[in-house]
Amino acid sequence: MLGSGKGSNFVAIADAIAAGKVPAEVALVSSDVESAGILEHARKRNLPVRFIPPGKFRTKLDEDAERAYVSALQEAKVDLIVLAGFMRVLKGDFLRAFEGRIVNIHPSLLPSFPGLEAWKQALDHGVKVTGCTVHFVDAGVDCGAIIGQQTVPVLDDDTPETLHSRIHAAEHELYPKCVAAIARGDVSVRGRRVVWKIGCGV
Ligand code: GAR
Repeated sequence: MLGSGKGSNFVAIADAIAAGKVPAEVALVSSDVESAGILEHARKRNLPVRFIPPGKFRTKLDEDAERAYVSALQEAKVDLIVLAGFMRVLKGDFLRAFEGRIVNIHPSLLPSFPGLEAWKQALDHGVKVTGCTVHFVDAGVDCGAIIGQQTVPVLDDDTPETLHSRIHAAEHELYPKCVAAIARGDVSVRGRRVVWKIGCGV
């Protein structure tokens, strides 16, 4: 798993694994931010942890960093890369090394509100319903094939913080279910459509 922030989605997935709801194990938790909460949560669970500096760019990994991430993940023999608040766009060699095996969670109902602070974008736009999306990662930003979505109402007195916290709660339900489905082989990709085995959808 890769994350840059507090790691609440990592905790939700790690708890679901511990509860036997997700047939997987966490091979490596890595971050581009040395002080990220996700690394602290992983250390507390005695999971392998690596801080890998991102290099000279603000929104992506530089070439050396990309190589370092790819080798760390290959050495850990990961089958699936779960992005949980990893705030760098993945490109070129990284995507090629793990094609079709990277998933991400985004705090809106994509394709609405890609990019940063999606909950704030939703509030500013005035939508009445938003939510979260788990999707495969491709070369675009927040636009790979959609695995699952969960809706969240926008309330009249919402602030960016209250709305983000409601979306976070939905993420913690949706993400473990999607990772479990992939681990069980319950989803298949047909072009842009991700199809769930009958009776297994979210
Ligand atoms: C989550 O809300 C996730 O959707 C968002 O970062 C947060 C990470 O929270 N990701 C993005 O905006 C990616 N474009 P967490 O560190 O508590 O899991």
